[in-house]
Amino acid sequence: MKTESNKYLWWQQGIIYQIYPRSYQDSNADGVGDLKGIISRLDYIKELGIKAIWVSPVFPSPMADFGYDISDYKNIHPLFGNLNDFDQLLQEVHARDMKLILDFVPNHSSDQHPWFIESRSSRNNPKRDWYIWKDPKPDGSEPNNWQSMFGGSAWQWDGNTSQYYYHSFLKEQPDLNWRNPDVQYAMLDVMRFWFNKGIDGFRIDVLWHLMKDPEFRDNPVNPDYRPGQPSFNKYIQVNNSDGPDVLEVVRRMRMLTNVHKDRVLIGEIYLPLDKLMKYYGQHNKGVHLPFNFLLLSLPWEADKIAASITQYEAALPPNGWPNWVLGNHDQVRIASRVGLAQARIAAMLLLTLRGTPTIYYGDEIGMHDVPIPEEEVQDPQGLNMPELNVSRDPARTPMQWSEYRYAGFSPHKPWLRLPDNYKRLNVSVQEGRRLSMLNLYKRLISFRQKEPALMVGSYTQVYADKQQLAFLRTYGKTQFLVVLNLTHRPCYFKPKDFRFSGKIELATYPEPEGKMVKNVINLSGDEGVIVRLHDAR
Ligand code: NOJ
Repeated sequence: MKTESNKYLWWQQGIIYQIYPRSYQDSNADGVGDLKGIISRLDYIKELGIKAIWVSPVFPSPMADFGYDISDYKNIHPLFGNLNDFDQLLQEVHARDMKLILDFVPNHSSDQHPWFIESRSSRNNPKRDWYIWKDPKPDGSEPNNWQSMFGGSAWQWDGNTSQYYYHSFLKEQPDLNWRNPDVQYAMLDVMRFWFNKGIDGFRIDVLWHLMKDPEFRDNPVNPDYRPGQPSFNKYIQVNNSDGPDVLEVVRRMRMLTNVHKDRVLIGEIYLPLDKLMKYYGQHNKGVHLPFNFLLLSLPWEADKIAASITQYEAALPPNGWPNWVLGNHDQVRIASRVGLAQARIAAMLLLTLRGTPTIYYGDEIGMHDVPIPEEEVQDPQGLNMPELNVSRDPARTPMQWSEYRYAGFSPHKPWLRLPDNYKRLNVSVQEGRRLSMLNLYKRLISFRQKEPALMVGSYTQVYADKQQLAFLRTYGKTQFLVVLNLTHRPCYFKPKDFRFSGKIELATYPEPEGKMVKNVINLSGDEGVIVRLHDAR
């Protein structure tokens, strides 16, 4: 539809779809997904209505953290293919008028990266200062109390050179020293390399970790820590990340990005709202989209979610574009968190809020976390903290394409097992069913994409209580009222100070569609509706 909404950019109008490449589609029968596999599924993604695909890391890596430990930033891991396959993927994505976003992991490399091998070889190696090395305290203990996100101290002793090096994550993922200009130059050069190839943007891994406290002061003790929580929770994470000068680095990344037309930077940042907003940068010269993870962490309660949406909207800087995330490769899947019935509501929420939505592969068919037997756990977070049940494998299992062996993902036994129910929970079954999650996603996406009010219109909260939340999306004279029941029990939407009349255009189950409503909507449990209002007040 040609409207004023054309003044918005693709990453404001379009929907992002995250692919965990090990698990999307295997093309060479080794049980692990790859680039050619993704190419073979591009028509599916296009038909879903997606604008941009974000692919988690596909670069050479010893796979200690499944690709988030990179040993060569400018190449492709043979497991996934090679640079020619990558070029073909990019070309095929563009041929379908879609965009490709890569994962950029600047905070740490693999300990097998030639830079780190050099850095650890001697104290006076020219690359020594590319990583974070510190002397022990006089008693030989770690330089400070900073903890690894994967459990235990974040400092690893190197007997060869008698110093500790710092790793926010695994000891196989040493943190780069971003205060060294040569590191900055080398990493910006990585971005340039992929931009020159023609990619459309980066999702930047743990962006807020790049700069630490220059004085390496201890983190304060967390009075709320309870045994049974990961060790990093013992301390309040203030000094080991979000350092004062991180925004200058972000600004440089953005400047480089601006040299290339129409690209996007998305920052992975888990911080409270006030701190998160800073990553938009002064005058929006930071990342275009600091990921908004509110929906991942909030209790599934209508009034709390409504209040958070309002807070988020209010906290945005002028012209800062919002975004919403329901799941990713580090989190419990939405269908497991809120149940399948509410996952339909979650889909409607994600796809009617103001801002760019990101969909995690498989959520569109309601994939749930798969129980991985203890002896099959592969995720280092799960292996390092077995008593906490924090493995991320359950949310990373192969895409369920069909009822065939291994769900059509691969002819070979996949790297992570499939759930027992894949024969009924898969794309091919759902394509043929009007009421499936897949069809709900498709209908929501296509409706959103043809209605500027839903795609880019303004947001106004209307009502929230313990069960339901309601909001308006407005563009010019078009106005939609979205009402969502976040519980399994029926409820009445009948706000005292808001009169309305209109037609239900879309609902989580289609029965009420086409119905006229006036001032009251009776909602079933787990029901959500999008109402086109007759006259906006
Ligand atoms: C965030 C990524 O999303 C996660 O999967 C990874 O383990 C850490 N960063 C370390 O790179």
